[in-house]
Amino acid sequence: MTTTSIRPLVAGNWKMNGLSDALGEAEAIRDGVAALGGRAPSVLICPPATLVAALAARMERSALRVGAQDCHWEPSGAYTGDISAEMIRNAGGTAVIVGHSERRAGHGELDRIVRTKAAAAHRASLLAIVCVGETKGQREAGLTLDVVRRQVVASLPEGATAENTAIAYEPVWAIGTGLIPSLTDVIEVHAAIRRELASRLGETGRRIAILYGGSVNPGNAGELLSLPEVGGALVGGASLRAEDFLAVIRAAMPETGSALA
Ligand code: PGA
Repeated sequence: MTTTSIRPLVAGNWKMNGLSDALGEAEAIRDGVAALGGRAPSVLICPPATLVAALAARMERSALRVGAQDCHWEPSGAYTGDISAEMIRNAGGTAVIVGHSERRAGHGELDRIVRTKAAAAHRASLLAIVCVGETKGQREAGLTLDVVRRQVVASLPEGATAENTAIAYEPVWAIGTGLIPSLTDVIEVHAAIRRELASRLGETGRRIAILYGGSVNPGNAGELLSLPEVGGALVGGASLRAEDFLAVIRAAMPETGSALA
């Protein structure tokens, strides 16, 4: 976690998981984070849209932030099934994930759509967590850095700052598979993203958090989170159980990470 004297961010992506009883799990996470005191990282939970308002209400006056997993680029209108960034904000959310590979692949979201969604997040004063990452085929073809750099450039809207934007590097083949890249590969990709951000945005680009995502769990979080330019984690499966997510959150505390930083 070099460039960053910035507080790390650990974000949970619940995906399409969670009925109302999941709110209890979030309360256990909230209480666990409170017990960590001032050294705790910044923690965000992105439940399904159906739970954003209820979760935000339960997390009021706590350090935990609540976000959504996607938004439309328009503030309102005839877009059946979609929700806008303004609606997320209105429900008490303060962040939204955009361009997750499950949206890019399953819903045909191209970089330019991701960019308009990130711009919508900014318009509604939400933190946009912009996801990028290569497929297995792209990695095997040696295209990882090209793909990721292109996604970063094409997915970031004008006006991105460290306050309104984080990048999440999520190799598609590492999501939900239990596989992670070698630590050297993580370092290489995060360094390439940092160079791209810095050359494009100068000082601002040096401060934007770059999260790692893809099979982060209590067993590997310590080493991943202590790597240079890894400013936090986007966590899927391991964010669903308070015990696991809290272990990842603890690993993001400087004193408990490994000595690689
Ligand atoms: P995973 O998901 O931690 O279950 O691999 C991460 C993500 O898709 O954001």
